[in-house]
Amino acid sequence: DDLAVDPFDVAARAAEQIAAATGVQRHDIALTLGSGWGRAAELIGETVATVPAAEIEGFSVSGVAGHSGTLRSIRLADGRHALVIGARTHLFEGLGVRRVVHSVRTAAATGAKIQVLTNGAGGIKRGWKPGSPVLISDHINLTGKSPLEGATFIDLTDLYSSRLRDIARTVDPTLDEGVYVQFPGPHYETPAEVRMAEIIGGDLVGMSTSLEAIAARQAGMEVLGFSLMTNVAAGILKDAPLSHAEVLEAGREAEGRIGSLLAAVVGKL
Ligand code: 6GU
Repeated sequence: DDLAVDPFDVAARAAEQIAAATGVQRHDIALTLGSGWGRAAELIGETVATVPAAEIEGFSVSGVAGHSGTLRSIRLADGRHALVIGARTHLFEGLGVRRVVHSVRTAAATGAKIQVLTNGAGGIKRGWKPGSPVLISDHINLTGKSPLEGATFIDLTDLYSSRLRDIARTVDPTLDEGVYVQFPGPHYETPAEVRMAEIIGGDLVGMSTSLEAIAARQAGMEVLGFSLMTNVAAGILKDAPLSHAEVLEAGREAEGRIGSLLAAVVGKL
Protein backbone atom coordinates (compact mmCIF):
# COMPACT_ATOMS: atom_id res chain seq x y z
CA ASP A 1 0.00 0.00 0.00
CA ASP A 2 1.05 3.55 -0.76
CA LEU A 3 2.81 5.04 2.28
CA ALA A 4 1.72 8.54 1.27
CA VAL A 5 -1.99 7.73 1.35
CA ASP A 6 -4.11 7.67 4.51
CA PRO A 7 -6.93 5.15 3.97
CA PHE A 8 -9.24 7.18 6.23
CA ASP A 9 -8.76 10.25 4.01
CA VAL A 10 -9.71 8.16 0.97
CA ALA A 11 -12.80 6.90 2.82
CA ALA A 12 -13.76 10.48 3.81
CA ARG A 13 -13.55 11.58 0.16
CA ALA A 14 -15.55 8.54 -0.97
CA ALA A 15 -18.23 9.45 1.60
CA GLU A 16 -18.41 13.01 0.23
CA GLN A 17 -18.77 11.61 -3.29
CA ILE A 18 -21.60 9.34 -2.13
CA ALA A 19 -23.38 12.28 -0.49
CA ALA A 20 -23.04 14.25 -3.74
CA ALA A 21 -24.16 11.34 -5.96
CA THR A 22 -27.14 10.30 -3.81
CA GLY A 23 -28.20 13.64 -2.33
CA VAL A 24 -28.23 11.90 1.06
CA GLN A 25 -25.89 13.63 3.50
CA ARG A 26 -25.88 10.98 6.17
CA HIS A 27 -26.45 7.22 6.28
CA ASP A 28 -27.42 5.56 9.53
CA ILE A 29 -26.73 1.94 8.72
CA ALA A 30 -24.68 0.08 6.12
CA LEU A 31 -25.37 -3.32 4.61
CA THR A 32 -22.86 -5.32 2.63
CA LEU A 33 -24.77 -7.84 0.55
CA GLY A 34 -22.88 -11.03 -0.25
CA SER A 35 -23.86 -14.07 -2.30
CA GLY A 36 -27.59 -14.77 -2.02
CA TRP A 37 -28.45 -11.60 -0.09
CA GLY A 38 -29.05 -9.16 -2.97
CA ARG A 39 -32.84 -9.25 -2.80
CA ALA A 40 -32.84 -7.57 0.61
CA ALA A 41 -32.01 -4.29 -1.14
CA GLU A 42 -35.48 -4.10 -2.74
CA LEU A 43 -37.26 -5.10 0.45
CA ILE A 44 -35.77 -2.83 3.11
CA GLY A 45 -37.16 0.44 1.76
CA GLU A 46 -37.35 2.85 -1.12
CA THR A 47 -34.23 3.27 -3.25
CA VAL A 48 -33.30 6.95 -3.38
CA ALA A 49 -30.28 6.53 -5.66
CA THR A 50 -28.12 3.82 -7.20
CA VAL A 51 -24.49 4.66 -7.92
CA PRO A 52 -22.07 2.45 -9.88
CA ALA A 53 -19.33 1.70 -7.36
CA ALA A 54 -16.66 2.33 -9.98
CA GLU A 55 -17.61 6.05 -9.86
CA ILE A 56 -16.63 6.34 -6.18
CA GLU A 57 -13.01 6.66 -5.12
CA GLY A 58 -11.36 3.48 -3.87
CA PHE A 59 -14.06 1.11 -5.11
CA SER A 60 -13.37 -1.37 -7.85
CA VAL A 61 -15.82 -3.53 -9.75
CA SER A 62 -15.80 -7.05 -8.34
CA GLY A 63 -15.21 -9.80 -10.83
CA VAL A 64 -17.24 -12.13 -8.63
CA ALA A 65 -20.64 -13.24 -9.95
CA GLY A 66 -23.48 -12.52 -7.54
CA HIS A 67 -22.22 -9.02 -6.66
CA SER A 68 -24.07 -6.08 -8.22
CA GLY A 69 -21.25 -3.51 -8.40
CA THR A 70 -23.44 -0.71 -7.04
CA LEU A 71 -23.89 1.45 -3.96
CA ARG A 72 -27.48 2.26 -3.14
CA SER A 73 -29.04 4.74 -0.79
CA ILE A 74 -32.30 3.41 0.61
CA ARG A 75 -34.83 5.23 2.78
CA LEU A 76 -36.32 3.00 5.47
CA ALA A 77 -39.96 3.30 6.57
CA ASP A 78 -38.94 5.28 9.68
CA GLY A 79 -36.93 7.82 7.66
CA ARG A 80 -33.46 6.46 8.39
CA HIS A 81 -31.13 5.85 5.45
CA ALA A 82 -29.25 2.67 4.64
CA LEU A 83 -26.20 2.48 2.42
CA VAL A 84 -26.34 -0.83 0.58
CA ILE A 85 -22.95 -2.00 -0.60
CA GLY A 86 -23.22 -4.43 -3.50
CA ALA A 87 -19.57 -4.05 -4.38
CA ARG A 88 -17.34 -6.06 -2.13
CA THR A 89 -13.60 -6.38 -2.71
CA HIS A 90 -12.36 -9.80 -1.64
CA LEU A 91 -8.90 -10.43 -0.28
CA PHE A 92 -8.32 -13.04 -3.00
CA GLU A 93 -8.54 -10.33 -5.67
CA GLY A 94 -5.04 -9.39 -4.57
CA LEU A 95 -5.64 -5.63 -4.19
CA GLY A 96 -4.65 -5.61 -0.53
CA VAL A 97 -6.47 -5.33 2.79
CA ARG A 98 -7.03 -1.56 2.54
CA ARG A 99 -9.22 -2.16 -0.53
CA VAL A 100 -11.08 -4.98 1.21
CA VAL A 101 -12.17 -2.73 4.11
CA HIS A 102 -12.55 0.52 2.17
CA SER A 103 -16.34 0.12 1.83
CA VAL A 104 -16.70 -0.29 5.60
CA ARG A 105 -14.54 2.77 6.34
CA THR A 106 -16.53 4.70 3.76
CA ALA A 107 -19.80 3.61 5.37
CA ALA A 108 -18.51 4.83 8.75
CA ALA A 109 -17.51 8.14 7.14
CA THR A 110 -21.08 8.56 5.78
CA GLY A 111 -22.26 8.41 9.41
CA ALA A 112 -23.27 4.75 9.70
CA LYS A 113 -23.22 3.43 13.26
CA ILE A 114 -24.23 -0.14 12.38
CA GLN A 115 -22.57 -2.34 9.77
CA VAL A 116 -24.45 -5.43 8.61
CA LEU A 117 -22.17 -7.93 6.87
CA THR A 118 -23.58 -10.85 4.87
CA ASN A 119 -22.00 -13.65 2.90
CA GLY A 120 -22.48 -17.05 1.35
CA ALA A 121 -20.59 -19.74 3.24
CA GLY A 122 -19.95 -23.45 3.43
CA GLY A 123 -21.48 -25.21 6.42
CA ILE A 124 -19.43 -27.40 8.73
CA LYS A 125 -21.94 -27.94 11.55
CA ARG A 126 -23.58 -31.35 11.33
CA GLY A 127 -27.27 -31.20 10.63
CA TRP A 128 -27.30 -27.72 9.08
CA LYS A 129 -28.96 -27.60 5.66
CA PRO A 130 -27.97 -25.55 2.60
CA GLY A 131 -30.31 -22.60 2.08
CA SER A 132 -30.39 -21.65 5.78
CA PRO A 133 -29.41 -18.24 7.13
CA VAL A 134 -27.08 -18.32 10.14
CA LEU A 135 -26.24 -15.51 12.57
CA ILE A 136 -22.49 -15.06 12.95
CA SER A 137 -21.61 -15.18 16.65
CA ASP A 138 -17.83 -14.78 16.25
CA HIS A 139 -15.08 -15.38 13.72
CA ILE A 140 -11.69 -17.01 13.28
CA ASN A 141 -9.52 -15.04 10.87
CA LEU A 142 -7.20 -17.43 9.04
CA THR A 143 -6.09 -14.91 6.43
CA GLY A 144 -2.97 -13.96 8.37
CA LYS A 145 -3.93 -10.31 7.79
CA SER A 146 -5.45 -7.43 9.72
CA PRO A 147 -6.91 -4.17 8.44
CA LEU A 148 -5.26 -2.38 11.36
CA GLU A 149 -1.89 -0.83 10.72
CA GLY A 150 0.60 -0.01 13.44
CA ALA A 151 0.12 -0.50 17.15
CA THR A 152 -3.68 -0.54 17.17
CA PHE A 153 -4.51 -3.10 19.85
CA ILE A 154 -8.29 -2.99 19.68
CA ASP A 155 -10.60 -5.29 21.61
CA LEU A 156 -12.71 -7.75 19.59
CA THR A 157 -14.90 -9.01 22.42
CA ASP A 158 -18.56 -9.13 21.32
CA LEU A 159 -17.48 -8.07 17.81
CA TYR A 160 -20.70 -9.53 16.41
CA SER A 161 -22.92 -7.54 18.74
CA SER A 162 -25.03 -9.70 21.06
CA ARG A 163 -27.44 -6.75 21.29
CA LEU A 164 -28.01 -6.82 17.53
CA ARG A 165 -28.18 -10.63 17.45
CA ASP A 166 -30.92 -10.49 20.10
CA ILE A 167 -32.84 -8.08 17.86
CA ALA A 168 -32.42 -10.46 14.90
CA ARG A 169 -33.80 -13.30 16.99
CA THR A 170 -36.93 -11.31 17.79
CA VAL A 171 -37.66 -11.54 14.03
CA ASP A 172 -36.80 -15.26 13.80
CA PRO A 173 -36.32 -17.05 17.14
CA THR A 174 -35.24 -20.23 15.31
CA LEU A 175 -32.14 -18.61 13.73
CA ASP A 176 -29.02 -20.75 14.11
CA GLU A 177 -25.81 -19.10 15.23
CA GLY A 178 -22.21 -20.05 14.52
CA VAL A 179 -18.53 -19.19 14.27
CA TYR A 180 -17.37 -18.08 10.81
CA VAL A 181 -13.90 -19.06 9.68
CA GLN A 182 -12.38 -16.85 6.99
CA PHE A 183 -9.91 -18.57 4.69
CA PRO A 184 -8.03 -16.53 2.06
CA GLY A 185 -9.51 -18.41 -0.92
CA PRO A 186 -10.28 -18.26 -3.79
CA HIS A 187 -10.14 -22.06 -3.86
CA TYR A 188 -12.48 -23.88 -1.52
CA GLU A 189 -10.86 -25.71 1.39
CA THR A 190 -9.54 -29.23 1.35
CA PRO A 191 -11.43 -31.73 3.50
CA ALA A 192 -8.46 -31.68 5.94
CA GLU A 193 -8.70 -27.89 6.23
CA VAL A 194 -12.42 -28.15 6.90
CA ARG A 195 -11.73 -30.75 9.62
CA MET A 196 -9.21 -28.34 11.14
CA ALA A 197 -11.76 -25.49 11.02
CA GLU A 198 -14.24 -27.72 12.83
CA ILE A 199 -11.71 -28.76 15.50
CA ILE A 200 -10.74 -25.17 16.25
CA GLY A 201 -14.37 -24.20 16.76
CA GLY A 202 -15.70 -23.19 13.35
CA ASP A 203 -19.22 -23.77 12.06
CA LEU A 204 -18.97 -22.01 8.67
CA VAL A 205 -16.19 -21.39 6.15
CA GLY A 206 -15.97 -18.44 3.80
CA MET A 207 -13.73 -15.88 2.12
CA SER A 208 -14.93 -12.52 3.44
CA THR A 209 -16.41 -10.66 6.41
CA SER A 210 -13.87 -11.01 9.24
CA LEU A 211 -11.48 -8.29 8.02
CA GLU A 212 -14.46 -6.01 7.36
CA ALA A 213 -15.85 -6.69 10.83
CA ILE A 214 -12.52 -5.73 12.43
CA ALA A 215 -12.41 -2.50 10.40
CA ALA A 216 -16.00 -1.73 11.44
CA ARG A 217 -15.09 -2.17 15.11
CA GLN A 218 -12.07 0.08 14.66
CA ALA A 219 -14.40 2.69 13.14
CA GLY A 220 -16.66 2.45 16.19
CA MET A 221 -19.55 0.69 14.45
CA GLU A 222 -21.70 -2.11 15.83
CA VAL A 223 -21.56 -5.24 13.66
CA LEU A 224 -24.26 -7.74 12.74
CA GLY A 225 -23.23 -10.70 10.58
CA PHE A 226 -25.26 -13.24 8.62
CA SER A 227 -24.13 -16.16 6.51
CA LEU A 228 -26.27 -17.97 4.02
CA MET A 229 -25.17 -21.58 4.10
CA THR A 230 -24.99 -22.20 0.35
CA ASN A 231 -23.46 -25.67 0.53
CA VAL A 232 -21.90 -28.21 2.83
CA ALA A 233 -18.14 -27.65 3.22
CA ALA A 234 -15.72 -30.10 1.60
CA GLY A 235 -15.47 -33.56 3.13
CA ILE A 236 -18.39 -33.10 5.56
CA LEU A 237 -20.58 -35.26 3.33
CA LYS A 238 -18.34 -37.82 1.67
CA ASP A 239 -17.84 -37.61 -2.09
CA ALA A 240 -19.73 -34.34 -2.58
CA PRO A 241 -17.66 -31.99 -4.77
CA LEU A 242 -18.24 -28.20 -4.58
CA SER A 243 -18.97 -25.83 -7.40
CA HIS A 244 -19.48 -22.07 -7.61
CA ALA A 245 -22.60 -22.82 -9.69
CA GLU A 246 -24.06 -24.73 -6.72
CA VAL A 247 -23.28 -21.78 -4.44
CA LEU A 248 -25.05 -19.34 -6.80
CA GLU A 249 -28.04 -21.66 -7.22
CA ALA A 250 -28.51 -21.99 -3.45
CA GLY A 251 -28.36 -18.21 -3.25
CA ARG A 252 -31.06 -17.79 -5.89
CA GLU A 253 -33.28 -20.35 -4.20
CA ALA A 254 -32.98 -18.73 -0.75
CA GLU A 255 -32.96 -15.09 -1.89
CA GLY A 256 -36.62 -14.27 -1.28
CA ARG A 257 -36.73 -15.81 2.19
CA ILE A 258 -33.48 -14.39 3.49
CA GLY A 259 -34.15 -11.03 1.84
CA SER A 260 -37.40 -10.71 3.81
CA LEU A 261 -35.65 -11.83 6.99
CA LEU A 262 -32.89 -9.25 6.59
CA ALA A 263 -35.34 -6.49 5.69
CA ALA A 264 -37.40 -7.23 8.81
CA VAL A 265 -34.26 -7.25 10.99
CA VAL A 266 -32.99 -3.97 9.54
CA GLY A 267 -36.36 -2.36 10.32
CA LYS A 268 -35.76 -3.10 14.01
CA LEU A 269 -32.08 -2.15 14.35
CL1 6GU B 1 -17.11 -24.52 1.21
N1 6GU B 1 -15.64 -22.39 1.45
C1 6GU B 1 -15.41 -21.09 1.36
N2 6GU B 1 -14.21 -20.64 1.73
N3 6GU B 1 -16.29 -20.20 0.90
C2 6GU B 1 -17.48 -20.66 0.54
C3 6GU B 1 -17.81 -22.01 0.60
C4 6GU B 1 -16.83 -22.88 1.09
N4 6GU B 1 -19.07 -22.16 0.17
C5 6GU B 1 -19.51 -20.94 -0.15
N5 6GU B 1 -18.56 -20.02 0.06
